[in-house]
Amino acid sequence: MSNSWDEYADGWDTNEDVMLYAENAFKSLRQFTNLSGMRVLDFGCGTGLLTEKIAQSAADVIAIDTSAKMIDVLNAKSLTNVTALSLELSEHEIKNNPLLREGFDLIVASSVCAFVPDYQYILALFKRLLKQNGTFVQWDWQRNEQDDFGFTPDMISQGYENANLLVENVTNAFSLTSNNSTMQVLMGIAKNN
Ligand SMILES: C[S@@+](CC[C@H](N)C(=O)[O-])C[C@H]1O[C@@H](n2cnc3c(N)ncnc32)[C@H](O)[C@@H]1O
Repeated sequence: MSNSWDEYADGWDTNEDVMLYAENAFKSLRQFTNLSGMRVLDFGCGTGLLTEKIAQSAADVIAIDTSAKMIDVLNAKSLTNVTALSLELSEHEIKNNPLLREGFDLIVASSVCAFVPDYQYILALFKRLLKQNGTFVQWDWQRNEQDDFGFTPDMISQGYENANLLVENVTNAFSLTSNNSTMQVLMGIAKNN
């Protein structure tokens, strides 16, 4: 089945804004996490710009995305400790997919949560997928007054509390400037305690 993100897959890895976003997300992740030995889920991984960086230190990365074309690009990179799958995360998938059932030390979602139809439902699934003391990290555009896309810090904190995740931090991680407009990126960090 085709997906609206499929058409972006071919040019994704050469888009400078996208590359910069992944580099900044990784830099901010490394500031508080030692990835060594970790089992990581990259949710909404796209072509794996962040996945590749995480995979250099983590033990294993399961990278999932609903766009089959994005996953094709990532699979073509043949990263040895990365398993890339095109799937829609659900209760059913968690129960039936052994790769997911094993649980994760870290779940990352870089510029994805604002696109899912039900943020709270996805957070509840992450709660189930995280090991005890596991960490969830998301990066998303900060909502501004002009439009209703993205998140406010309160929306993120409230989402974590509702999902019974412990709010560690919600901060302005970095900003990106494109076409003379600067946008802030929020980083939310939660623990499964
Ligand atoms: C802005 S891109 C970010 C891709 C990647 N994380 C990166 O930083 O390059 C958003 C990605 O989220 C994926 N996506 C959208 N809705 C999704 C969902 N419900 N489950 C998994 N992936 C989803 C899209 O297919 C797309 O690859």
